[in-house]
Amino acid sequence: MIYSENISFQLVDLLLVLAIFSHVTWTVKSSSHCKQALSREIRPHSVAITEFGAVGDGVTLNTKAFQNAIFYLNSFADKGGAKLFVPAGRWLTGSFDLISHLTLWLDKDAVILGSNNSDDWPVVDPLPSYGRGRELPSGRHRSLIYGRNLTDVIIAGENGTIDGQGSVWWNWFRHETLNYTRPHLVELMNSTGVVISNLTFLNSPFWTIHPVYCSHVIVQNVTILAPLDSPNTDGIDPDSSDDVCIEDCYISTGDDLIAIKSGWDEYGISFGRPSTNIIIRRLIGHNRNGSGIAIGSEMSGGVSEVYAENLYFFDSSTAIIIKTARGRGGYVRNIYISNVTLAGVDTAIWFDSNFRQHPDELYDPNALPVIERITVKDVVGDNVKVAGLLKGIEGDTFHHVCLLNVSLNVTSESPWNCSYIQGYSASVSPETCQPLKESVYPKHSSDCYHLSDHLQSSGNQNRGSWLLSW
Ligand SMILES: *[C@@H]1O[C@H](CO)[C@@H](O)[C@H](O)[C@H]1NC(C)=O
Ligand SMILES: *[C@@H]1O[C@H](CO)[C@@H](O)[C@H](O)[C@H]1NC(C)=O
Ligand SMILES: *[C@@H]1O[C@H](CO)[C@@H](O)[C@H](O)[C@H]1NC(C)=O
Ligand SMILES: *[C@@H]1O[C@H](CO)[C@@H](O)[C@H](O)[C@H]1NC(C)=O
Ligand SMILES: *[C@@H]1O[C@H](CO)[C@@H](O)[C@H](O)[C@H]1NC(C)=O
Ligand SMILES: *[C@@H]1O[C@H](CO)[C@@H](O)[C@H](O)[C@H]1NC(C)=O
Ligand SMILES: *[C@@H]1O[C@H](CO)[C@@H](O)[C@H](O)[C@H]1NC(C)=O
Ligand SMILES: *[C@@H]1O[C@H](CO)[C@@H](O)[C@H](O)[C@H]1NC(C)=O
Ligand SMILES: *[C@@H]1O[C@H](CO)[C@@H](O)[C@H](O)[C@H]1NC(C)=O
Ligand SMILES: *[C@@H]1O[C@H](CO)[C@@H](O)[C@H](O)[C@H]1NC(C)=O
Ligand SMILES: *[C@@H]1O[C@H](CO)[C@@H](O)[C@H](O)[C@H]1NC(C)=O
Ligand SMILES: *[C@@H]1O[C@H](CO)[C@@H](O)[C@H](O)[C@H]1NC(C)=O
Repeated sequence: MIYSENISFQLVDLLLVLAIFSHVTWTVKSSSHCKQALSREIRPHSVAITEFGAVGDGVTLNTKAFQNAIFYLNSFADKGGAKLFVPAGRWLTGSFDLISHLTLWLDKDAVILGSNNSDDWPVVDPLPSYGRGRELPSGRHRSLIYGRNLTDVIIAGENGTIDGQGSVWWNWFRHETLNYTRPHLVELMNSTGVVISNLTFLNSPFWTIHPVYCSHVIVQNVTILAPLDSPNTDGIDPDSSDDVCIEDCYISTGDDLIAIKSGWDEYGISFGRPSTNIIIRRLIGHNRNGSGIAIGSEMSGGVSEVYAENLYFFDSSTAIIIKTARGRGGYVRNIYISNVTLAGVDTAIWFDSNFRQHPDELYDPNALPVIERITVKDVVGDNVKVAGLLKGIEGDTFHHVCLLNVSLNVTSESPWNCSYIQGYSASVSPETCQPLKESVYPKHSSDCYHLSDHLQSSGNQNRGSWLLSW
């Protein structure tokens, strides 16, 4: 009897130690986690694109040179991989395919330019989690830099540039002369171990960097720019992907700077692949017709365990938004956002639950999204119009929404407008709306995601293990 009590006591002790350990490794080790991956950059073999006949004059089309170089480098995939070096110059190309164990390396003044001819961007199948192209039914143009079923891929360089020359696409979009959905600048599909670092991305035709059905993706120290009025030029869109780390980025585009997605209505629900374990930190950005960090509007496969911190958004339309609708299904849960600085932002926090774009008429209007356990903490802002536009869905209240230490200088007469939401708050100025009035402390800190209950939070176990596995 005494003996078995002893054992169970030791077991509890051990579990506690393990739990504390996994939390500590996150906060301490997570900063080295992104760097560790970069040591894999050394490749034993290297070729320059010029060895395959490429001409960096900005007019010669180099698609064949990229394809031939990568075909050649495939023979080194099982020998530690290889590097394709792109020297200074302006390298015009159509869409090309990457391979596993490849580093695409852009020298300091190297510019990869996307062709202005839509035929150079072949049409591929729609994503199964969208059921159709995002803009038009049927297929979609393939991204300029594309990869599928890959492992260990690095796209990096000394601040070289990948320029999609998107203006031709934006014009086709505006004049409604597109035949298929516009292409991304970079898309990696069903791939693992992806690093994108130390580069500048300009003028994407559509979303800029799109990891979809991927695991272990790092986007670090990149600049992403597109005109503030360019249509749908999102910065980075992790889509049905897990273990994604985005850090030290500057993004200024025509739409959402980062949008976390997971498929669209009935197609996303049946595909059922969530986005989870997403870390975003040290992001600076600016938008006119989008947001700093968005979740959705396509979130039908679910989005969870998102940690975003040290964010600075200026002269922007919206800082943080969750976009959803009836028919979307899925869930958004366990979201923790902290240390946000805003300067000149129209809406600081927005839950838009009426984002009614559906792939077709087959969606189920009774598929309601579950939105819960959203913590937003340590926010300061100057010259903000509206603090919070927090709208749940009638009959589908968004719950455990927690706001702490939010201090905004707001110009609107009614800074908060809330409906169908439930939650708690502490130290919020201007004074928050009625449904969030109840204090977080002392009774409700464990109802708020990632506040005082690290040891019990469901995300902790996952997070500890994926970071340790790096
Ligand atoms: C592509 O189109 C853009 C905008 O019309 C133009 O500035 C650029 O020179 C064109 N590039 C090529 C290589 O044709
Ligand atoms: C994903 O890639 C792996 C190989 O890396 C392959 O075995 C698998 O079939 C692919 N799945 C899809 C849906 O493309
Ligand atoms: C990726 O894997 C899927 C599923 O196995 C396969 O159908 C597809 O052809 C593969 N694509 C490439 C580019 O390897
Ligand atoms: C970011 O990239 C630039 C070159 O593009 C490099 O000089 C700088 O050291 C990088 N910073 C980090 C933190 O990696
Ligand atoms: C990289 O280049 C972009 C565009 O030219 C520039 O805005 C950015 O400051 C550069 N980044 C670094 C780290 O040098
Ligand atoms: C759409 O198709 C028409 C007819 O084939 C073609 O003339 C046009 O160039 C295509 N548009 C784009 C943007 O590719
Ligand atoms: C990016 O630049 C930094 C600083 O020069 C370097 O430490 C890091 O390894 C680079 N990243 C990649 C993937 O080369
Ligand atoms: C802003 O984006 C929305 C949705 O993409 C679009 O309908 C609208 O036309 C855009 N507005 C401007 C001013 O670009
Ligand atoms: C908060 O974020 C800012 C950048 O926006 C950074 O300078 C500051 O050090 C961060 N504060 C903490 C406590 O991490
Ligand atoms: C409140 O948030 C601001 C901005 O992130 C931060 O500087 C400050 O230390 C926080 N205050 C407390 C009591 O945590
Ligand atoms: C908000 O305005 C007050 C009074 O105008 C000013 O003292 C304070 O510094 C401002 N706060 C911020 C965060 O800008
Ligand atoms: C809240 O928003 C609704 C419409 O979304 C509007 O009718 C109402 O006037 C707003 N309330 C306040 C206090 O701003």
